[in-house]
Amino acid sequence: MVESRWGGTIRKLWLSENDKFRDHLLRLDPGTRRLRFGMAVNDDFLCDYVSHMNDTKGLVYGYFIDGEVHAAAEMRLIGDSMPADAEGAFSVEPAHQNQGLGTELLGRIIRAARNRGVTRLYMNCVAENRKMQRICKKYDAELEFDHGEVVGRVLPALPTYISLWQEAIDDSSGFMLAAMDLQERAAA
Ligand SMILES: CC(C)(COP(=O)(O)OP(=O)(O)OC[C@H]1O[C@@H](n2cnc3c(N)ncnc32)[C@H](O)[C@@H]1OP(=O)(O)O)[C@@H](O)C(=O)NCCC(=O)NCCS
Repeated sequence: MVESRWGGTIRKLWLSENDKFRDHLLRLDPGTRRLRFGMAVNDDFLCDYVSHMNDTKGLVYGYFIDGEVHAAAEMRLIGDSMPADAEGAFSVEPAHQNQGLGTELLGRIIRAARNRGVTRLYMNCVAENRKMQRICKKYDAELEFDHGEVVGRVLPALPTYISLWQEAIDDSSGFMLAAMDLQERAAA
């Protein structure tokens, strides 16, 4: 299996893999859930949240180890207007934090936003979430403080052939990795 420097692989989730995303969210402890959703959320909330994933326009990147998702980044388009705005949200399981995954995932989401003509990408986080603010700053995000929340705003550049090509290359290697992973687990 081809692996990244983190020991796992990052790729887009397929629609049929929502259960893997749900299981990742269910593994998050209460503190991590609160940072991710801005409030305390229980298992029912998370199951309901994931069951509506396919109703929204967007995509999810997952960090996979042995076929399980241990970190994820979502991009949801806001409204129907073009050029569009979008929101990004991130979750890295505590055992995998502080290894650069959040930074890498935000980079993927910014590129995906760029390639879909998104002009403003927002990240909402609670004021004490210094780590997320640190990551936003790495991509030159403007941070606005408002009533205990911080909104990071990145203005993605216009898409280019290179940014579209890079995403397409990632998608095709992601497809191959997913197929190899399926094969390996079927054989095991
Ligand atoms: C926020 C989160 C996505 C970051 O993921 P991660 O993989 O741990 O992040 P990275 O390792 O890429 O980067 C973390 C950065 O924050 C820095 N950092 C760590 N603790 C910090 C702190 N207390 N204050 C400020 N910066 C901090 C690290 O040094 C690193 O910066 P560097 O690369 O310049 O050294 C992850 O911690 C998480 O899932 N948190 C809970 C959910 C959440 O907060 N989601 C965001 C809201 S949508």
